[in-house]
Amino acid sequence: MGQQNQGSSILFEPFKIKSVEKLHLSTPKQRRLWIEEAGYNVFSLTSEQVVIDLLTDSGTAAMSDEQWSEMIKADESYAGSRNFLELEKTAREITGMEFILPVHQGRAAEHLLFSTILKEGDIVPSNSHFDTTLANIEDCGAQGINLPTEEGTSPFLKHPFKGNMDVDKLKDLLEQKGERIPAVMMTITNNTGGGQPVSMKNLEAVSSLARQYGKPLIIDACRFAENSYFIKKREEGYKDYTPAEIARKIFSLCDIVTFSGKKDALSNIGGLLCLRDRELVDKLKTKLIVTEGFPTYGGMAGYSLAAMNQGLKEVLDEGYLKYRLRTIEWMVERLEAAQVPVLVPAGGHAIYIEASKFFPHIPRENFPGITLTTELYIRGGIRGCELGTVAFGKRDKDGNHIFPPLDLVRLAVPRRVYTEAHMGYVVECIKEIYSERGRCNGFEFDVEYPIMRHFRSTFKPITA
Ligand SMILES: Cc1ncc(COP(=O)(O)O)c(C=O)c1O
Repeated sequence: MGQQNQGSSILFEPFKIKSVEKLHLSTPKQRRLWIEEAGYNVFSLTSEQVVIDLLTDSGTAAMSDEQWSEMIKADESYAGSRNFLELEKTAREITGMEFILPVHQGRAAEHLLFSTILKEGDIVPSNSHFDTTLANIEDCGAQGINLPTEEGTSPFLKHPFKGNMDVDKLKDLLEQKGERIPAVMMTITNNTGGGQPVSMKNLEAVSSLARQYGKPLIIDACRFAENSYFIKKREEGYKDYTPAEIARKIFSLCDIVTFSGKKDALSNIGGLLCLRDRELVDKLKTKLIVTEGFPTYGGMAGYSLAAMNQGLKEVLDEGYLKYRLRTIEWMVERLEAAQVPVLVPAGGHAIYIEASKFFPHIPRENFPGITLTTELYIRGGIRGCELGTVAFGKRDKDGNHIFPPLDLVRLAVPRRVYTEAHMGYVVECIKEIYSERGRCNGFEFDVEYPIMRHFRSTFKPITA
């Protein structure tokens, strides 16, 4: 088998299991009761009520023996912790950036940066902002604008880099509203757009445009290692590069990096803000002390700095990245073969199902996505996340729904946690629900929260 598995019918996990956590098994009858009590919102379930938790890939990774041993040895000094210095060195090597500020998670980096560089009326264009990124931009009275390509918004069209930004649209925006744009942003991989990668060519084009207009380029690098491996696999000219070399080239194209260590640092908490501009760093450090902590810990324990440092060293391993991306591809292949409307090609960290195509008989105002998250939970104890009408929809001034382009349900795969058998079980459950989809009727709001509706709103089933 050698290096394992690209394109093979089995999934080969490149690790062996040293410590195990019991799965909390339950019956559909129990789960029917629990989800009703939770107001049909899977965020309100306790983790013990869930069998396979695919709510997020964020902060849910299984850590390696090396990470745990580094954590035990960690230095908890308030100032000048050895673990910060090691993390700083690793992050400098990966990004090529001189200044590394630790923060407790990705959104803290966003908040720190945007509250410093944005003012009311500003615009920040992106391939697609993640929801916390957008919320942090809007919190400053500014506006986030998504400029995905046409392929990126066509869920069933196969294109290797559906995370790309539409460069022509960016150029138009810079021409027309340049004075209101303090920075351009790229999210790699593009989570909101389906975990889809951005090509080096697109990053180069966006970077050169941003430089031409004198704007810094910010990369939201949560899944930089996954994106780097996609470039190796899918983009001409990169097959002989290592993921680390590709990552370094990506970061050479930007000025600022926001990073959540909860994804591609294989850690349960942590984040970074990496920069080149000394003057900006000075301003940020003052704010960092006020909001997160001293600049050598930034809201993290020494052992969290240690876990992140070791995770960053492990994540660029090719064997790991092959297995990681193949997991999602393996699931997508099986769902596609069963004609389930799954977003293609496979993204890096999750499978995305188009719920309004899965349940074409359920009107969008009756939330096909909530219908699917409920069915997945009752049938299989599987927790996924609605990222469609509830999460991204709005109301107009008359209270009518404004629907987002897609009605997605995301099943995000935690790193190194589940095996092929677990993923096969998830695929089988989805196929079973799909074959019986006609018996589902949809939902309506019980309690609707005005923003970030998917976290706390509750629902009532529609009875036929
Ligand atoms: C693309 C992207 N950016 C930013 C964040 C925010 O990171 P955190 O959850 O660590 O605050 C996330 C989290 O899921 C993300 O996926």
